[in-house]
Amino acid sequence: MGLKAVFEANPNRRYIMFGGKGGLGKTTFSAATAYWLASQGKRVLVFSVDPQASLTDIFQRDIFGKGPVKIMDNLWAQEIDADSHIKTYQGEIRKKILDMYGLDAVPEEIENYIQAASAEPAMEESAIFDAVVDVVVKGDYDYYIYDLVPLGHALYYLSMAKVYDEWINRVTHLREEMREYEEMVSRLKREKTTEQDEILNELLYIKGRINASSSILTDKAKTAFFFVVIPEEMIIDDTRNAAKLFAQFDVPIGGYVVNRVIPHQLLEQNIPSYLRNRIQMQDRHLDGIRSAFGNQVLAYVPELERDVTGLPMIEKLADIMYGNGSR
Ligand SMILES: Nc1ncnc2c1ncn2[C@@H]1O[C@H](COP(=O)(O)OP(=O)(O)OP(=O)(O)O)[C@@H](O)[C@H]1O
Ligand SMILES: [Mg+2]
Repeated sequence: MGLKAVFEANPNRRYIMFGGKGGLGKTTFSAATAYWLASQGKRVLVFSVDPQASLTDIFQRDIFGKGPVKIMDNLWAQEIDADSHIKTYQGEIRKKILDMYGLDAVPEEIENYIQAASAEPAMEESAIFDAVVDVVVKGDYDYYIYDLVPLGHALYYLSMAKVYDEWINRVTHLREEMREYEEMVSRLKREKTTEQDEILNELLYIKGRINASSSILTDKAKTAFFFVVIPEEMIIDDTRNAAKLFAQFDVPIGGYVVNRVIPHQLLEQNIPSYLRNRIQMQDRHLDGIRSAFGNQVLAYVPELERDVTGLPMIEKLADIMYGNGSR
């Protein structure tokens, strides 16, 4: 089955991710897929949390931190600025402290603490996580294409979703038990308990969001995760290992797309032995890819004559991946 057929056979899969090691073509394939779906009349958002602003590069538009930017009919691109999300977080925390204690200014000690906490990688991760949940839970588009950062990072993110979820489950449960207990005590004392439990509500809210996003991420019917590979030995090994890990996190692997295949037709031309050798080497690794991933390989994308930037090149690639040029 080819990529196009996979999309057509699974119209409910609205959350699409391309994953893989650095520089293999995740952003390129995300953009081409978004382009193809949009040209089929679907409303598409392609988004990333990549501080390198690679969607800005590929679409040649200033997108970073600007919310969804319209690229063409049916196609929007968004680059989430994690730093500004952290600043918003900090602002919210300050406001809560001021409200809670009726203060006019945040005490220096607490301000120092807020600053220190923001330098933690966990804070950045959770700001990113929150921003992604925000985008995905809203549900305004037919398709969400999440242009992922390189593999290791994506795995960390997924594992965090799982840890988050377990942690919050436990705390929510405790909190609910406490509430029952408190209600019982106040009944005995014949007091009324109309007062809202704000902490519990907040926890339930967070839990609801996390459940929504992690169930989306791991739902085979709604989500497809495609691995990008290239015909190189190390990449094939790494991808095989990563796929095992992803399976442990219940991420539904939709298939594999092979990038940067040097066109075989070149062999019919008078080409230098250098290139001939490269093609033979790739042939060997393509065999390796077929034996590792078998019929889960959905497309082979050739090495193009130049970088994929700008809509005409994106269209060309989309046509190779999904159009008549696909195989
Ligand atoms: N088939 C191809 N032919 C020619 N150039 C390609 C091809 N695929 C990708 N490229 C180029 O390779 C570079 C890396 O691609 P891309 O940015 O999509 O990788 P990535 O996996 O998103 O990288 P990162 O891990 O840094 O996010 C880009 O300059 C892109 O234009
Ligand atoms: Mg990228």
